[in-house]
Amino acid sequence: MSSAECVTVVSHPLIGRSLTVLRDHATACASFREHLRLVARLMTFSVTQDLAVEQVTVTTPLEVTQSPQLRRPVVLVPILRAGMGMADGLQDMIPDARVAHIGLARDEETLQPKAYYQRFPKDLDQSDVLLIDPMLATGGSSIAAAKFLKEAGAKAIRFVNLVSCPEGLKAFHEAHPDIPVFTAAVDNGLNERAYIVPGLGDAGDRFYGTD
Ligand code: PRP
Ligand code: URA
Repeated sequence: MSSAECVTVVSHPLIGRSLTVLRDHATACASFREHLRLVARLMTFSVTQDLAVEQVTVTTPLEVTQSPQLRRPVVLVPILRAGMGMADGLQDMIPDARVAHIGLARDEETLQPKAYYQRFPKDLDQSDVLLIDPMLATGGSSIAAAKFLKEAGAKAIRFVNLVSCPEGLKAFHEAHPDIPVFTAAVDNGLNERAYIVPGLGDAGDRFYGTD
């Protein structure tokens, strides 16, 4: 896959509206949570559009018929902490998805991610795995998380992201050319502190009210 093929910018008027609320520095924590969950719900249609389905037999009150179901289980993998806010929205749309967790915190001096937690289901190799993080800045965190997932056996991984930038997309694609990225925005770039600009600030802090 080329870099361009690997990135889908998911565009919709309602996604744009939520993104505007999320970007606004004056948005309070409750509203930030509401719109992060909402935007993830809206993105789910595009992210899952080509998931494999199979026909199963179902008995309606009137007849026996054939109807589709997902061929493989879905595993949601939020990168802690900010990924949790989007994972809630994806889980609203895929209620039977299992949820794995990867704990990473970016060291703001070195910009390297420090891993502090991992918990995966056993059959990752037979699942459609959705890695979730609203922010793709240098790419360090999402690149490391995808590596952990592959080491644990995951084969079919998609990355669900809200705000990206050219630097992060390039780094992620170079490290994991097999993983498609779904994002709602490709911003201008990184500032001197490796924050996305215009961006929305520190997603984890704004979601949990720790800023
Ligand atoms: C943020 C964000 C990503 C990472 C992006 O998390 O949610 O995980 O930074 O930056 P990168 O692409 O340069 O690695 P952070 O480490 O601040 O942790 P938090 O979600 O707990 O606030
Ligand atoms: N982490 C965030 O939460 N936001 C950024 O812009 C960069 C890293």
